[in-house]
Amino acid sequence: MKKSIAVLPGDGIGKEVTKGAIEILEAVGQRFGHEFEFQYGEIGGSAIDNTGTPLPDKTVQVCKNSDAVLLGAVGGPKWDSVPAHSRPERGLLKIRKELDLYANLRPISFYQSLSDSSPLKKELVEGVDLLIVRELTGGLYFGKPSERVTKDGEDAVVDTLFYTKEEIRKIIELGFKLASQRKKKLTSVDKANVLESSRVWRETAEEVAKDYPDVTVEHMLVDNAAMQLIRNPKQFDVIVTENMFGDILSDEASVLTGSLGMLPSASVSKFGPSLYEPIHGSAPDIAGQNKANPIAMILSSASMLRLSFGLEEEAAAVEKAVEQVLENGLRTGDIAGSASESVTTEKMIAEIKAALLDQEAISNIMGAYA
Ligand code: IPM
Ligand code: MG
Repeated sequence: MKKSIAVLPGDGIGKEVTKGAIEILEAVGQRFGHEFEFQYGEIGGSAIDNTGTPLPDKTVQVCKNSDAVLLGAVGGPKWDSVPAHSRPERGLLKIRKELDLYANLRPISFYQSLSDSSPLKKELVEGVDLLIVRELTGGLYFGKPSERVTKDGEDAVVDTLFYTKEEIRKIIELGFKLASQRKKKLTSVDKANVLESSRVWRETAEEVAKDYPDVTVEHMLVDNAAMQLIRNPKQFDVIVTENMFGDILSDEASVLTGSLGMLPSASVSKFGPSLYEPIHGSAPDIAGQNKANPIAMILSSASMLRLSFGLEEEAAAVEKAVEQVLENGLRTGDIAGSASESVTTEKMIAEIKAALLDQEAISNIMGAYA
């Protein structure tokens, strides 16, 4: 198979972790006989520095001409003072809109070998397997007006939560579809006791439910959902929710697995290329130090193999290689806990690659390492 992949490393650790994903994809190509061609594009703060804008048109073109997009992370303190409309994060929001990436899938799965990395009790998190389906191109992030205003002589500010009914229906349908392929439970998260948009969200979920009689649907208020995720995370299968609620709940849920550095995501489009990015940000505090955990990015590229290219065996092989190195005790700083030593980003990448190329040989390699 021959595929063209747009690569947008972005800022901070984004650069280090995308390098890792590419090494792994090249190894996948080698092992399974595929040809992946990488086209680079600029986004975020480094794009501001080099081109004056967080998302140059050229990057959009590179993405639109690709079969799938890999994105590292954007942002950093260097660009904190640039005007709101040209911040690095604008680049990310704009590419989501340009590619019509209406849904962001954030799977939260428990790794047995990391059971000590979560700050929560083992018996609470053991076996957690949930999927957050976050609406990604509407809601509070994109509603207009979003500006500072003057009202009755007072300085004031407005952000807007806007959805068309069709946008709500589209994301909820995807939630049901994914739940019907999993444990058949959908939790629709809203704030229907306060927000009109949430009441329409809830009604829409009820309407769509009629088409999925095998899926159990429950409605949960977002504040309660935040609590339930910590109190009893195993009750969840698929969670579907508004853009900003999903942003917040997915960071919270990442703690269940031990680290934000473990979590991949897929931002999907109905027609064009989808985009794969880790949930974590650019981590300026550890950027350039060869310390970042590349696993979230590597798992994002596995999702790309599966969802965009239909390469299930290849995706599973990457995921298995990640599991193997974790089982063998390899840890970057974020998942090291207090007991074990941590390894560099490059070491982690090299070991995952070795595990992938020879899934048998890993135990020998680790024997030597120990
Ligand atoms: C995420 C990030 C982004 C978001 C930021 C960087 C704009 O937090 O992908 O979750 O809020 O969507
Ligand atoms: Mg976020």
